[in-house]
Amino acid sequence: MSVTHDLVVTGGTVVHHDGRHRHDVAVRDGRIVAVGTDLDTTGATVVDARGLLVLPGLIDMHVHLREPGMTEKEDFASGTSAAAAGGVTTVVDMPNTFPPVATAQRYRDKLDLVRGKAYVDFGLYGMIDHDNAGEIAGMAELGAMGLKLFMGQTTGDNRCPDDAAIFRGLEAAAADLVVGVHAENDHLLRLFGERLRESGRTDPRAHLESRPAFIEVEAITSIVTMATEARTKLHIHHLSTRAGLQRIVDLRAEGHRVTVESLVSHLVLDDGAYDTHGNLVKLNPPIRPAADVEALWAGITRGDIDIIATDHAPHTAAEQAETDVWKAYGGFIGVETMLPLLLTATTRGALDVEDIVRLCAYTPAQRWSIPHKGQIAPGFDADLVLVDPTEEKPLDSASLHSRHPVTPYDGWVLTGSVVATYLRGGLVHDRGEVVGPPSGRQVVPRRGSGLRPVDAPVPALGTMLTVPTRELV
Ligand code: DOR
Ligand code: ZN
Repeated sequence: MSVTHDLVVTGGTVVHHDGRHRHDVAVRDGRIVAVGTDLDTTGATVVDARGLLVLPGLIDMHVHLREPGMTEKEDFASGTSAAAAGGVTTVVDMPNTFPPVATAQRYRDKLDLVRGKAYVDFGLYGMIDHDNAGEIAGMAELGAMGLKLFMGQTTGDNRCPDDAAIFRGLEAAAADLVVGVHAENDHLLRLFGERLRESGRTDPRAHLESRPAFIEVEAITSIVTMATEARTKLHIHHLSTRAGLQRIVDLRAEGHRVTVESLVSHLVLDDGAYDTHGNLVKLNPPIRPAADVEALWAGITRGDIDIIATDHAPHTAAEQAETDVWKAYGGFIGVETMLPLLLTATTRGALDVEDIVRLCAYTPAQRWSIPHKGQIAPGFDADLVLVDPTEEKPLDSASLHSRHPVTPYDGWVLTGSVVATYLRGGLVHDRGEVVGPPSGRQVVPRRGSGLRPVDAPVPALGTMLTVPTRELV
């Protein structure tokens, strides 16, 4: 009896970025080899997915797993366990650690440190700092998924570069590496922060008031202008304001190329959360008023926002309980709750499950040139998530896998649960239990795609269900 498949997931509804079909998925040696009906199950492990959705594993392009140097907050084992339990099979980890990942040697050290600890696949960003343009080629060679540029100060020991250092970094990255930007102007953040501090304010809303929308708009305008000149692939992380999104739309109309990310937390929380959760929901950029949240959802509907990520940014439970807003850290966990929160949003018609696949798997893989990820099709990695779209239950923070499972979503009644997660054909999560040993590997982007000239013909990216097709690079 010859065995053609190792694993066949049968009877589920396979959701792609552009539609869904009742199909089986057959896997061999970690890759999808067939998608269709009545596939050969002889000798294979058969998973009955009747009544379930089968999604490509999500790719979270924005997590902070805190290695090296801040493992009291999270580490690769705990953070990637949370990812596996949340249906996220690839995470991209940020470089604002102690020390920051700003040299090729530190990039190599980080790879050595995290290898063997991850339950899902991972990419690692390097950083553009105040004086490291000479290190960028070395980090690219080691497989950097992209480079993070913090225009505004945040957690970690990173000095914000001035415009000259930024431009040298952008030139060194062009046209191979995506540069992902935290777009807030540091000088203006400091000015507004100092004024509020001097006025005696220490409450959570003071943080929101210290970061008005124009500070984001100014940084976006500056970095997009520079990146076009340097011919760098640019991505704006965690865009948070209506005004910032409008500036992106205007810049695109002028011919600038840039992709944009929205965070789950900026989509499901508004400034009312400061009254309920205090500094737990302090975030850089901040949770915004409802008008901004509405503008972000409209941007998703129109296709102006390209991806959704989490900015999973863990801190210790004690740190999250800090009451002085200036002493509190920004950020909170989110990688494990992303998919259930977005599935819940589908029940009120905010987006379709196909849109979740496009925003959280297909487009990230396209934009960052991640090989074999983001789709359920022959030749792709068998990263599969089984989802029960109807199960309704309150979120219990004690069930989460992060080192400090403190979340503003505790007790939220969510519709849609992650039943099981497969990484390259292997079960890594089964109904809340993470299954070892850790088998995650480094994911390295395809190189050499370069940046197309602005007036080159635009290849179609694919047929989207609800939004128009727009070029990414
Ligand atoms: O609030 C934030 N926390 N924003 C960031 O950009 C970084 C993050 C962190 O690393 O804690
Ligand atoms: Zn972040």
